[in-house]
This record gives sequence, structure tokens and C-alpha cells, in this order.
Amino acid sequence: MSNTPFVWHNGRIKPWAEANVHVSTHALHYGSSVFEGERVYATPHGPAYFRLADHTRRLFESARVYEIDVGYSEDEINAACLELIRANAMASAYVRPIVFRGAGGLGVLAKDDAPVEVALIALNWGAYLGEAAERGADVCVSSWHRPAPNTLPSWAKAGGNYLNSQLIGLEARRNGYDEGIALGHNGLLSEGAGENLFVVKHGRLLTPPSSAGILAGITRDSVITLAADLGITMEERELPREALYSADEVFMTGTAAEITPVRSVDRKPIGKSAPGPITKALQQAFFGLFDGRTEDRHRWLSVVDAVVPDRADQTPAIHGRAPHQQPVPMEASA
Ligand SMILES: Cc1ncc(COP(=O)(O)O)c(C=O)c1O
Repeated sequence: MSNTPFVWHNGRIKPWAEANVHVSTHALHYGSSVFEGERVYATPHGPAYFRLADHTRRLFESARVYEIDVGYSEDEINAACLELIRANAMASAYVRPIVFRGAGGLGVLAKDDAPVEVALIALNWGAYLGEAAERGADVCVSSWHRPAPNTLPSWAKAGGNYLNSQLIGLEARRNGYDEGIALGHNGLLSEGAGENLFVVKHGRLLTPPSSAGILAGITRDSVITLAADLGITMEERELPREALYSADEVFMTGTAAEITPVRSVDRKPIGKSAPGPITKALQQAFFGLFDGRTEDRHRWLSVVDAVVPDRADQTPAIHGRAPHQQPVPMEASA
């Protein structure tokens, strides 16, 4: 991961070093931020966001859960995301939009005291799980569970939720694993520290439902859609822990993790300890979107340079769809 020249902060593109906050920033003390992780891929049409409108929509829905007024429209955030990539002249990127309660009051609620800030950060960031993305990840079932649904809402991608993810990830790495998978409050499979979970059994693709304490991932939704395109039978259903041990294939999905095969769980090998045929078919369909081998039939790509700079609200998508059209709801994959 490396810094880039410019950050978009509160409506302005500014140098990286000048995009700062005060130590009394509310989000620093109470986790009161909502954020997104997005990828820009180098495509034959130039740099293109993957599902930009859907990420922005989820950002706003997360903000609504915590009664945070973003202060910009979804269209304005979409346009700013495109502007940031142009300003940094990037061919590909990981982009982190964040909306947070800023400095102004240290009360827990601080609704009116702490003004909301918005920032968009673009990073050069390769495979999140490093070489595990290629060889397959060695994962464990964590001793930490996901929060119960009546504690922290998992559909909202909020900063505070990631303390739980840190406990899961830290424990896994301390014990020599690439990643940890958590059970939900009911003891059934939920998701990874920063990824959704898929299992293949007898040719069927299975994934825990969006009510399983998971973030309803946009990559998860994309995989479900691509599976349907490929004629793969798919079911969202509650899965016990042992579904992992008896699986033919396991993989995890996320914007950062993309589609990462799992080769072992709790040191028990999965399948032939190499990506299986359904994982490979879905990887091919997914990554094919970015090199042009898979048709973008769902209009998921928004080409950065297809936008005339002073008319950012018009037609940035390959297929002519403005990025703010056809939003999916927060429960993207339900
Ligand atoms: C806890 C958690 N689950 C799932 C995901 C995958 O979501 P998406 O595919 O929208 O990136 C992420 C990544 O953002 C995550 O942090």
C-alpha cells in the first residue's frame, strides 16, 4: 500500500499531507464513522470503478442507520470519486470513502456538536490477503463471534464494527493463519473478518444468509449474480461450522479480498487443497469483467475518463449508465 498525491476532503481535492483531523475528532473516540472500500480496475476502456453507485448507496444507508447527515448527494460523492482518480492519474486503485463525526464535542451523542466530515482516499493496494489469493488461504474458525443483530447492525459498514474484525484477524494471524472466520451469535457460520464466505458442496454454491450477522457484501452479490449467469445452483442458507470441514470448495469474497480460495480450515485441507472448478469459474467470470473477457452485462463498470470533467453527472459508464442509477438496497444480495 502506498500514499497517493491527493485526497478529497470536505469538498476539496488537497495534498495527502494536508488532509488531517483534530485529536478530539468524535469518530476517533467512539467509532462514529461509516465507510466503503471500492476498487478501480485497469480495463481496456481505461480505469473503471466496480459498482460505484452500489457502494455509494451502501455508504448513505450506513450513515442513515447512525443518523449521520452526509451533507452531499450520492451523485456528488460519485462525481468526487471519479475526480479523485483523475487527480491522482491512477490506472487502478483501492478507494476508501469515509463519513465521520468530526471535532466539536466529546459527548457520546454529539449529534449537533461534531460536524460531519467526508473524505475519499485512493490507495495503490494489491491483493488484500497477499499470496493467499493465489495459493489459497489457510483460515481458522475464530474464538470470537460476530456481534448479535441486536447489538451492532452488521449491514451498516461502520468503523466501530471493525473492532470485532480486528479481534478475529489478530487472533488468526497470531496463530499462523491468513484469516479468521467467525460464527454468529447462534453458533452458525457468519463471515470472515473482512470477507463474506462461500462453500461448495456436491456442485451447489452455498452462502450464509444476509441475516447471519454479515455485511451484505457487494462482491458477494456479484458472485451470486455471476453464478446465476453461469448456471451454477446457488442457495443462501444457514450453515453449521462443519459445512466448512466437509466442503468440496470454500472461498471468501470482498472488495479487498476479491475472490480468495480457501485451502484449509483449522488445518484441515479443503478439497484437493487447490482452487476447485466452481471457484475457478467464478474467478474467471469476475476478473474477466476487468480485462474484457466477461461482458459487463449488469453494467457494473463506471469508466473514469468517460466523464467530461465539468459534467460529472453524465454518462460515465461503459454502457452509458450514470453511476447513480440503478442503486441496489443495502441488503444487496438478499
Ligand atoms: C466484515 C466484512 N464482510 C464482508 C465484506 C465484503 O464486502 P464487499 O464485497 O462489499 O467489499 C467486507 C468488506 O468490505 C467486510 O469488511
